Amino acid sequence: MCGIFGYVGKKNNASQITFEGLKLLEYRGYDSWGIAAKVESSKFKVQSSSSKFIVEKHIGKIGDINFNSQLSTLNSQLSIGHTRWATHGGVTVENAHPHLDCTKSIAVVHNGIIENFQELKEELSQKGHKFLSGTDTEVVPHLIEGFQKKEGFASSVKDAFNKLKGLNAIVVANAKSSEIIAAKNGSPLVVGIDKNAFIIASDLIGISDYTNRVIFLKDNQMVILGKKIKLLSLPKGNRLKENIEKINFKFEKSNKGNFEHFMIKEIYEQPGIIRNIAKNYSGKIKKLSKLMEKAKGTFFIGAGTAYNAALAGAYLFSRVSKKHINTSVASEFNYLEHFLNRESLVIALSQSGETIDVIEPLNRAKKRGSKIVGITNAVGSSIYRMADFNILLNAGTETAVASTKTYTAKLSIILLLVFSIINKLKDGKETLLKVSDEIERLLKKENLKKIKDISRSLNNSDTIYIIGRGVSYSSALEGALKIKEVSYKYCEGLAGGELKHGPIALIQKGSPCIVFAPNDETYESIISNAIEVKSRGGMIIGVSPKNSKAFDEWIKVEDLSDGTFITQIIPLQLLSYYLAIERGLDPDKPRNLAKSVTVK
Ligand code: F6R
Repeated sequence: MCGIFGYVGKKNNASQITFEGLKLLEYRGYDSWGIAAKVESSKFKVQSSSSKFIVEKHIGKIGDINFNSQLSTLNSQLSIGHTRWATHGGVTVENAHPHLDCTKSIAVVHNGIIENFQELKEELSQKGHKFLSGTDTEVVPHLIEGFQKKEGFASSVKDAFNKLKGLNAIVVANAKSSEIIAAKNGSPLVVGIDKNAFIIASDLIGISDYTNRVIFLKDNQMVILGKKIKLLSLPKGNRLKENIEKINFKFEKSNKGNFEHFMIKEIYEQPGIIRNIAKNYSGKIKKLSKLMEKAKGTFFIGAGTAYNAALAGAYLFSRVSKKHINTSVASEFNYLEHFLNRESLVIALSQSGETIDVIEPLNRAKKRGSKIVGITNAVGSSIYRMADFNILLNAGTETAVASTKTYTAKLSIILLLVFSIINKLKDGKETLLKVSDEIERLLKKENLKKIKDISRSLNNSDTIYIIGRGVSYSSALEGALKIKEVSYKYCEGLAGGELKHGPIALIQKGSPCIVFAPNDETYESIISNAIEVKSRGGMIIGVSPKNSKAFDEWIKVEDLSDGTFITQIIPLQLLSYYLAIERGLDPDKPRNLAKSVTVK
């Protein structure tokens, strides 16, 4: 979470470069943003001297703003910026980063949570430091200021960083020495090495426009960027060799094309992505299925939508290939790690490849000698780099915060794996091609009217329920997550059988309940559950290949046997999108969320 960008070099428009960099990183957090720049000499009269930073901060999304203020016209060769997802301190201009020390010559942007910031803040306040924000971050420039009374900039940053508890990444700029120093033990930071500049950013996306020569900062490393680059290890500050990697990555900026939002555009991209997976993944799938066969214990982990895909995988492996897969919400896997050993295989599903809740248990699994597989959409991401084996989704940049196309891409890879394990990969590929055709049908204009009508009627209810059994239980969870995050309606995804164990008490006249009723072993039981809800006044919306008396509304999804678990989520993606539109919300950037979740 939070996007970080910094530039130090010979170009004279560092603040403008930082602004453009932040725009690319906005998906990491978008409640507020800010930039600090050192003035070399100015076209316009400015009040500060060149050893102080000029700072500009705003609340809201960076994309909404034209950068035509004083900062944008500055002649500056040193600048850092930040786009925030609030952790400590509300969304205010004061709390937006960068934060400065008392002399205004040290500027800091930060990603992470400083767990001991209260005690550090008290100590610093007693020493006379003045705090202007309610953030944890602001202790960092003041700590550095304090250390600088006795030592140089680099050792002050090192000593300050060593005092921080928790998982953190900081980027510090010094207007006096014209340097940037970054240190991390958590969130990602990448340094780009250009001919005449160093760039630092939270990920490659911010850098790939400038250079393909990069250093991925490892945990407990610190880098000094000025006229030269120096890499040091923490906590001691011993010099390390700078291992520069050449990366083959060019970020494609996505645009909405003829669509009104990225979310709907990405929903429409699904048939193409799935066709690509059907046609081009045999080699990788066979290798991974061999690894799975060899392993004594395979674990699928992920967060949010990625976890829902993992859960779907466990059901499909059980049903089709009779293979036991363990699954866990990634943030809970830390507490289930005790069964991991050198023969275990941990498969991490993650669009961004940067989710800290996934990275943490992977680190633990690695320590136990387990093999790590990454199924991600981001080349060069942290998970991609730590994995022993990678499968990329190749779904293109997913810009909308709510995952759609990377969810079905993950399901498609899982389906091929399931079929590969039973030596029927060809059947898996054929199923995927049918899946892709069926999604195209579901997305046809004439099929949207019903979805739009239903979403309008859902807007009249405060609570929506979704039920499914077996692999469709994961569809219920995913559908509910989509509705919650983009429409802000409370929606509960439930295993059909669980209704009568409590939640059915909530059903009253008119309560909408979406029912996944595919033509599989769950059909009879889920229809019984639907009737139980209907008998208590519930309004039943069936997602099924066949109509039923239990349904008040029916959304037809063709029976594609083992492929249906992919296609049946499309109506839910559409319903959540149109519900958000109905409610006048921006489905691409829902409140309180971020595309890349790098704090615990
Ligand atoms: C929901 C959504 C999130 C992510 C979760 C994990 O639409 O996008 O629940 O799935 O934050 O993110 P990744 O896949 O990047 O690890």
